[in-house]
Parts: sequence; C-alpha cells; structure tokens
Amino acid sequence: VLTRTFLWQDASGRSTEFKYERLVSMAEPQLAALRVTIKPVNWSGSLRIENFLDAEVDNIDFHKGGYQMRPERYYFVDLESAVSQAADGLLMTVKTRTNPYRVAEAVRFRLTCEGRQAGAASLVRKEKKRIAAHKQVSVKAGMVYTLEKMIGLATSRDGHQGIRLGQAADGVAARALARGFDRVCADHAVAWVKRWRTGDVEITGHFSDQQAMRFSIFHLCQFVNPEDTKVNIGSRGLTAEMHYGNCFWDTELFILPYYIYTWPEAARALLSYRYQTLPEARNKARRLFFKGAMYPWMSSYPGREQADYWEYANIAIHIVGDVHYALEHYYQATADEGFMEKYGAEIVFETARFWNSRAYYNPRRRAYMINTVKGPNEYDGVVNNNTYTNWQARFNLQKAAALARAWKREKPGAWRRVSRKIRLTEAELKSWEKTAQGLFIHYDRRKKLYLEDDQFLDKEPFDLKALKPGRKIITERGVSWDTLLRLQIVKQADVLLLMTLFPDSFTAGQKKAAWNFYEPKTCHDSSLSPNTHAIMAAQLDLPEKAMFYWDETARLDIDDSMENSYLGVHSACVGGTWQIAILGFAGMRLLADGFAFNPRLPKRWQGLRFTLNHSNRLLQVALGKRETILSLAPEAGKPMTVFLGKRRLTLQPGEERRIRG
Ligand code: BGC
Repeated sequence: VLTRTFLWQDASGRSTEFKYERLVSMAEPQLAALRVTIKPVNWSGSLRIENFLDAEVDNIDFHKGGYQMRPERYYFVDLESAVSQAADGLLMTVKTRTNPYRVAEAVRFRLTCEGRQAGAASLVRKEKKRIAAHKQVSVKAGMVYTLEKMIGLATSRDGHQGIRLGQAADGVAARALARGFDRVCADHAVAWVKRWRTGDVEITGHFSDQQAMRFSIFHLCQFVNPEDTKVNIGSRGLTAEMHYGNCFWDTELFILPYYIYTWPEAARALLSYRYQTLPEARNKARRLFFKGAMYPWMSSYPGREQADYWEYANIAIHIVGDVHYALEHYYQATADEGFMEKYGAEIVFETARFWNSRAYYNPRRRAYMINTVKGPNEYDGVVNNNTYTNWQARFNLQKAAALARAWKREKPGAWRRVSRKIRLTEAELKSWEKTAQGLFIHYDRRKKLYLEDDQFLDKEPFDLKALKPGRKIITERGVSWDTLLRLQIVKQADVLLLMTLFPDSFTAGQKKAAWNFYEPKTCHDSSLSPNTHAIMAAQLDLPEKAMFYWDETARLDIDDSMENSYLGVHSACVGGTWQIAILGFAGMRLLADGFAFNPRLPKRWQGLRFTLNHSNRLLQVALGKRETILSLAPEAGKPMTVFLGKRRLTLQPGEERRIRG
C-alpha cells in the first residue's frame, strides 16, 4: 500500500491534512483502490473533489536524439466512450491503436464524513478526452472526510465483448466499493502474505541490504501474472515505458530463476508465453530463410519483432538459446513432464532446428561457425563466433537430440505426437548431433582463456580508468559508437555470464583467467552486468568485489545510481539481486534431486534465510555465521538430497537439521 501524508497550507493560511492510501490488488488484478482522508484543520467552507478518467495517455520519449522513430509524445489509445454510471461512478472505454484491443476502466467512489454519506450528487462534465465528476461538500474544521475510490479494469483480450466489457469493469469497481477499502486492503494483504511466505529472503545484520532485497522481491511479485500466459515482463516491469514494455532475454536469464524456485506457476506462465508466440518465431525464421523458430530480440504479444534495427532484430540471436536454456532450467528444477509434453518439447526442437540452419560448416576451419551475430556484449558490434552464442546453440542442439532419443525409448506416445506435429525425422537428429559436435568454440589453451569472439583480441586495448568518472553510460559521457567498436570495451558480462550459467563446465583456472581478463574491460553499461560479476566474484572467493557488485545491483533503482530510474525499475536487476544472494552468497547449485550450497556470507550479514522449491518440495534454508538450519516441508512427499559444502545430507519430509560450523 502506497501511503502519502502531508499538511497543505494555502496562501490564505488554511491548513488541511491529507492522507492517501493506494493499492493495486494482489488478490484481484483487475482492481485498484484509493482512499483519501482529508481534514480541514483550521477552516470551514466549501471543498470540491474532482474524480476523473483520462484517455489522453501518452508514452514518454525516452530515446532522445536519433534513435526515436516515433513522434515525441506517443498516444496509444483512442477514446471510444465515456459515460457516468449510477450516482457516483464513471465508465470509459478506449481502443489501443496498433492492436484492436478494447479496454474499459470504471471508477466508483463514495465520500463520507465520520461514517455518513457526505456531499451533494456529483456533477458530470465531459471534456475532449476526459470525463469528470465534481463533488461539492461543505466541510467543518476538525471533521474527517474520507473518499473511497475503486477502479475496475477489463479488456477484450480477456474475452469480454461488446457491452459486457464495460459491465465487467464496472462490476469490479462496484463490488469493491460495496466491500469498502478496509476489506479490499485485507484481501490484498492476505494475497501478499502468501507470496512472502515462500518468496521472501531475510537478511539479518544489515538494514539497507534487507530493504534492497525486499524492494526487489516486491517488484518481482507484482510484475508477473501466473494466470496470464499471453504476456511477459517488460525490461522495466510495470513501472515505465522504456523499450515500450517489450520483453527481452532479461526475463529468461535474470528474472525467471526467482519464479522457478519460489513460484513455479509464474515461471510456467512466462514460458507459456514463449509457446504462445512460437508461430511468430517460426514466421520470423522463415522470413529470414532459416528453419525452426527464431524468437524476437524485443518481443511483444503476439511475439513479433519490435527491435527497430537489423543489428538487434536479426542478429542478437542468442535470445533463441536463452529461451531454450530457461526451459531446460525450469524442467530440471520442477520435473514438470506435463509442460514439456504439451509445450516445452516443441520449443526445444524448433529452436534446435533454427541453430542447425543458422550454423554453417566452414571447411577452412573444419568447424561449424555462427557468423554475423551480436552477443551479450553489444559494444563489440557484429561478430563471428560469439562464444556465448555458440555455447548456447550447442547446448540447445545437444539437449534437443538427447530429449528426442530419450522420448523415442521411454515415451513413444509423446514422441509420436510431437514428431508428427512438427515432422521431425531421424536424419534431423543426426544432423543436430553432428553440428553440435563440430561447433566452433574459441579457446586459448595457453592462456586458459575463452575468447568472446573471433575479433575481440585484435581490437585496441583500452584503460577504462581513462574515462571521466561517473555512472552514466559511456555513450552519454562522450564516447562515440565507432570508438566502442574499435576498442576492447565490454558493455556487460558476456563470457563471465556463460560461466555462471554453466558453472560445472569450466575449471576454476578458466574462470579466474576470464575474470582477470574481462572484468577490468567491462563498463557495466547494462544493469544486467553487475549481478553476474557479483555471483562470479563470490564463487571465486573475492569477497570485496562481490560486495562491490552487490551494491551496484541491489541499490541501483533505490539510489538511482544509473540516473535513469525515471525510465522504470530495471527488472533484470531486481531478479539479479535475488540471484546474487542465492547463487553467489549462498552458493546454490541445482542438482538432479536437490541442491548444493557453498555459503560465503558477506561479513556485514548475520544470516540469510530463504525458501527454494525443487519438484514441488519446499526447502527452507537458514544460513548463519555458526550454524545452518535446513528444513524440508512436510508436504514434500519424498526426501531431498542436500550438499552443504562437502557434506551430503538426506532430508525426510518434515525434517529439520541443524548443522554447526
Ligand atoms: C542490454 C540488453 C538488455 C536490454 C533490455 C540493453 O541495454 O544491453 O542486454 O536485454 O538493455 O534490458
């Protein structure tokens, strides 16, 4: 509940106390509620309250200078109708411009004074794109006036048609007003308590770290809707219009893990979005002469590419592997066979098909290559054989072939259904295996160094310390795009990200070499970068670096340290905050049957407590300086294996274990 109180003193010396309480209901996503309490302190007289609905909504122009391709103020809805409802109610219907969606918004309100209805009937006034209801009341000094206002929303996307759309929105508002703000608020609180029970992370010993963590969890919980498989999470969640609300790989790699382990229904809904948008991903592949499914770099519903430039739209193809990685991650942690059979397998096979048609056999290098791509380090321009991309492609091809072979043996029914549906052949599986085996991965054996791509080493080295200090992104500090392309500057974790995603595929020596080489060259111009560095630093036992990058991540939006939080909360970053605590400081690894932990708690923390879900079994973990407590929920059904450092434990459902040291 967002609460704001203030004392207003006007020019003629009148003082009025205000209290605003507002919420968007967690129990009923179509409902928002507002309560305004007004107390004239030292005056009596006339007070006018204006309630209105406004269809003149516009998007801010965030791409100043050049990149913006749309008018400065971008209006995305047209007014259809605006009417008053009953005594104190308004209803407005608008239509979105690019897609033919209709949205109805209804408001119902009530003004009371000490429990009794107050004020005259409201006067309704229609303006060009607004409708307003004015309420006049004569107020007395010292009395308290309360305005309760309920807002209901309905969209044609949810199946409401014609007149029923308005009725649905108004019904939500009217029912809520009948219940009153206190009950609406209580239902909201109950729904939140349920989320915090499995989704909270408790940090003891450091207030602002705890605050940052809960700030992140709050956003993670409110910007997802497990009931809706047609939407995803925008790069700025629900807080502003940066990137026009489209989603990126931010979801799959940086946000989704939180849901996988604490709210699998939400993870499932997000992956279902990728299934729903599979037809568009197939279209995109076809249009560019590839096979299978090519997910868009910037995706809206129904999954069409929204990136303005070919340099992102057509070649930032690691997104295809990222979607597959996320699916695999979800599958391993949840063992959700039903989802795989109904939706997942098709994504795995179609993405593998894409890679197989995108990779090219180069006889000169005697290897399969993936040329002309943009890897996670966007400042490297257009490159050949981005290690991150090739690795994800290989993983995708290997997993697809393995899944097909396993299903052929163990699930012939499921195999028949999917292979017939998408016409998969044995020859294709063989081809996937061959491509996977021959995919080029750039590795310098002598230096134990994985190279970002074919060209990175040929670029001119550059000392980032030579730049003017500041947290603004490099291009806003006067470095031109061509300069970035020329120099060894890494925008965000690339090879290091790969190493945190596949922690067991690299030796400690390789990780160290990568850290020493890339970390000094990375300017973290993306909020997706410091969290990976924090995890990596924790795993490499570099506590000061880990803490530095934790601070950069966890407080990025609270402190507005990138000076761009007005464009919205960085959703990958709030997801990253959770990941640092769990993967970095708790050192969690997912195992086939449970988890492994290798805790390295920051000095300034006394303890870290969280809950993780593995295949419908909830494990509570409390890490302290001297003791660890592990408890498996009684409903778990079967035991779980947990490694704490080198110790192997088997926990029975309902069992709690205290481990000293
Ligand atoms: C980053 C991308 C990210 C996008 C949306 C860019 O600045 O480089 O990796 O997906 O922002 O958050």
